[in-house]
Amino acid sequence: MFRTIKDIDFAGKKVLIRVDFNVPLDADLKITDDTRIRMAIPTIKHIIDNKGRAIIMSHLGRPKGERVDKYSLKSVVARLSELLDKPVAFAEDCIGEKANAAVSKMKDGDVTLLENLRFHKEEEKNNPEFSKALASLGDIFVSDAFGTAHRAHASTAGIADTLPAYAGFLMEKEVKYLSKVLTSPERPFVAIMGGAKVSDKITVIENLLEKVDTLLVGGGMAYTFHKALGHKIGNSLCENDKLDLALKVIEKAKALGKKFLFTQDVIAASEIKEGIATEAIASDNIPDDKMGLDIGPKTIKEFSDELKKAKTVLWNGPMGVFEVKPFDNGTRVIAELLATLDATTVVGGGDSVAAIEQMGAADKVTHVSTGGGACLEFLEGKTLPGIEIFSKPIK
Ligand code: 3PG
Repeated sequence: MFRTIKDIDFAGKKVLIRVDFNVPLDADLKITDDTRIRMAIPTIKHIIDNKGRAIIMSHLGRPKGERVDKYSLKSVVARLSELLDKPVAFAEDCIGEKANAAVSKMKDGDVTLLENLRFHKEEEKNNPEFSKALASLGDIFVSDAFGTAHRAHASTAGIADTLPAYAGFLMEKEVKYLSKVLTSPERPFVAIMGGAKVSDKITVIENLLEKVDTLLVGGGMAYTFHKALGHKIGNSLCENDKLDLALKVIEKAKALGKKFLFTQDVIAASEIKEGIATEAIASDNIPDDKMGLDIGPKTIKEFSDELKKAKTVLWNGPMGVFEVKPFDNGTRVIAELLATLDATTVVGGGDSVAAIEQMGAADKVTHVSTGGGACLEFLEGKTLPGIEIFSKPIK
């Protein structure tokens, strides 16, 4: 059984909520993308509206077990308070005297954010004493931290040895849609993969090949497949130590009888620079002084035709160097197309999420995952430690 917060009576309870507020900050410690905070709001609101006391825990960055000021969760308090439309107290530590003092002041419906869990090295070591110290602050444990669910840390996994664990709304939604595409997709099921490196996604591609009807590959990773087939890829990105693996994947797709399409043509240029001269050329014959930086018009047409037939689409990774114009075109066209499809459309993984948000299409797809690494590991078919806790028997 997968336990969620839906049927829990939170009145008067101290609820420890693990969220993933690992948000990007600029040099002045201003949040540049608050998606992860916004996505956790329904769970926090539900708990406080039902008279629970919300004790919020998160990590921010990788401070490696030490207090590092720029990674203080203080930077998040104001935005969280704005989104919840109520004051948020801040505890300068996540365990011990300061945390206890902050929690003991709380009344029903109050919210307290604890300082960065990763200021203690025991967090990432999943230290049982540290888990217990965290657990001692609350009565119930709720996790909405899908983005950190692939980490077996004290606050994501260990804590569930002491407290019953329940999935928040965001966690439930992530698991629902990502599981749906892997286990019961409406067909045709088309996955479209991009991003720079084959090595980051090869296990995902291998797992997906068994589930999809069609797999489309764009982005920097397509050139490793082209090179593996003996094509001329010029200066394009390539992982030479992954050529054998790329060939194996091509063979696997053939053996499974799956449609496995990668770029036919590309937008090539001599360097990655805004406004530089570009040309659309066949992706198997790129001159030595040029590199492919986006998918070309024939590829866009072919990919679009496949996507239009789909009833389920999973998109992971941009089609080109979308941060630099004009190499954003392929990614933009795919994002815009996804927004119009009559299909379940799921977008996962850091870069493709940034891309779909930049293109203004994030609210027009079925689900945008807040997980980067977590999303990829889920799609690889792994069991994530921060998810299996919801099915663990309660002691
Ligand atoms: C992420 O941003 O992917 C998560 O917050 C996990 O962060 P980590 O890779 O530092 O564990």
